[in-house]
Amino acid sequence: MNSTSKTSFRNKVPSRLSRTIFGRNFQNPVLLAAGTAGFGNEVAGVTDVTRLGGLVTKSISLHPRAGNRSPRVAEFRGGMLNSVGLANPGVARVAADHLPRLLRLAPPAQVLVSIIGFQLDEYAAVIDQLGDVSGVAALELNLSCPNSAAGGIEFGADPASIEAVVKTCRAHTTVPLIAKLSPASPNIGTLARAAAAAGADAVSVVNTMPGRLLDRSGQTRLGAGRGGVSGPGLLPVGLQATAVVLESTEGLPVIGVGGIRSADDVRQYLRVGATLVQVGTAGLADPRLPERLVRDLELRGV
Ligand SMILES: Cc1cc2nc3c(=O)[nH]c(=O)nc-3n(C[C@H](O)[C@H](O)[C@H](O)COP(=O)(O)O)c2cc1C
Repeated sequence: MNSTSKTSFRNKVPSRLSRTIFGRNFQNPVLLAAGTAGFGNEVAGVTDVTRLGGLVTKSISLHPRAGNRSPRVAEFRGGMLNSVGLANPGVARVAADHLPRLLRLAPPAQVLVSIIGFQLDEYAAVIDQLGDVSGVAALELNLSCPNSAAGGIEFGADPASIEAVVKTCRAHTTVPLIAKLSPASPNIGTLARAAAAAGADAVSVVNTMPGRLLDRSGQTRLGAGRGGVSGPGLLPVGLQATAVVLESTEGLPVIGVGGIRSADDVRQYLRVGATLVQVGTAGLADPRLPERLVRDLELRGV
């Protein structure tokens, strides 16, 4: 093969993998999941983010958060347990520094921004203070955080709260909104319908699953006691959630997250009907893995 035909082969490849969603072109369906790549800075030098479909930032709150006490992560046979506690520098720092830098460095990969609030108004305040979001493909609403006005019950645990968050955010931005749901609810279809009714443009499933691990002395392995389970054990959970959300919402776009370690795992999500996928834990252990997944999909198809 001469160099011209090599180039033309390469030029044709992305079109097979590309996806259009949120009015934007994703060069491939592989994104980095929220909280596992910071704002791109945490993977700089080891991951070529520009080769990916996109990156979701770690969740941003109104005020800086130091996060939970250590240890914050513990491994087990089925994956990982973490209690990072939504540590982040707060929206002002992100708007002034992290987000503009990421928007310069990531393209053609898309940038999605994850936001959290501990009260309804905080979601809106984070959106209002994000600054120039013209380069942001979508805002992913992390609904797995306690609503302090409702005694600490997670926003994502009940359809009315999900509707309230999505509607409030919708009123504050024209950027596409993604509701990220937890797998802990037995009625994830009802939750997704609530998000769709309130104006969400897509749903991400799944966030981590509540969990706890003890050491031999009976002490909890995480400083915070409980945490969120991620990694391989979540693969069937995320696939099932993807299928249920698609059935329940009659086709609201789904971003499949949970347990992806191989290109075949990605293919499973795409065959179930996910439009995009996100890779979290597997990329923490092996930062070059997401790029290899893209390469495999390019070479062997989806
Ligand atoms: C260390 C760590 C930090 C995370 N932080 C966030 C976060 O800030 N916001 C969020 O929505 N999800 C967060 N998640 C959840 C992931 O985005 C993802 O939904 C979950 O880990 C399942 O995917 P995986 O099995 O590929 O890791 C975090 C996960 C891990 C392991």
